[in-house]
Amino acid sequence: MRVRKAIIPAAGLGTRFLPATKAIPKEMLPIVDTPTIQIVVEEAVQAGIEEIVLINGRGKSSLEDHFDVAYELEHTLAARGKKELAEKLARISSMVRLVSVRQKHPLGLGHAVLCARDVVGDEPFAVLLGDDLYDAPRPAVGQLIDVFQAAGLGAVAVMEVPAGQEHLYGVVAGDPISPGRVRISHMVEKPAPGTAPSRLAIVGRYVLPPDIWPILAETKPGKGGEIQLTDALHGLAKSKGLIAATLDGERHDAGDRLGYLRANLAYALRRPELADGVRALCREMAERR
Ligand code: G1P
Repeated sequence: MRVRKAIIPAAGLGTRFLPATKAIPKEMLPIVDTPTIQIVVEEAVQAGIEEIVLINGRGKSSLEDHFDVAYELEHTLAARGKKELAEKLARISSMVRLVSVRQKHPLGLGHAVLCARDVVGDEPFAVLLGDDLYDAPRPAVGQLIDVFQAAGLGAVAVMEVPAGQEHLYGVVAGDPISPGRVRISHMVEKPAPGTAPSRLAIVGRYVLPPDIWPILAETKPGKGGEIQLTDALHGLAKSKGLIAATLDGERHDAGDRLGYLRANLAYALRRPELADGVRALCREMAERR
């Protein structure tokens, strides 16, 4: 079955980026000149997603504005001869249908996803977490949709993380079925140091069947007192089966300050008009103390 809809949870407070996120959502923080949310939406669109369900909270209306038509701005730019820039803006508002749903209480990622149940309905869907950016030859979520379709089972993206970092992630364990693919038997959200069942960490992309809905609705608060998506996925793995897939491409943790700076450098290096300048800047900075 085709995967047409994607959920992007964006209701978090962005505390790691305060004070930058006091008055603007963290999803609007730019990578070079493009808000992180736009990079994630573009990935979904390139993978064939037709509708984005944005889960947002208070103070997040700029996210909707970003994907709306900015008539005055486009008109003014065009009148000043900046046609290309005007077209670039117009493209953002026309690239996808966006529906937004409020998560009224911050009850966790599982709860945020559950808020989209009525909008998504009885069909498979993707989930993309905005803190995880993928610089990939093929859209990361598209790679995962392929896994979902080939296996006929839900799929989550994973990455082997260095020992000692497992407690920062949801961690999976299971049986390898082919290179880069594991059939999941066990999942745990942010295991206490030294207790992780493996080093395979979930990295922000999921493609799930609608079977997850009743499981999510029954999921009790877990780690941190929040309703965890990982706990519901553990249930799905047990009842229907679930695949963990390592994807091609480089993952950036844009939810972490250093990871965010790294993502900025990596994306700038891919821009022909910036690459040389960035290299020179890095050399200059490396010589500083
Ligand atoms: C969330 C998930 C976690 C996953 C991580 C990936 O945690 O709960 O399972 O490994 O995203 O970035 P968060 O980083 O939002 O606390």
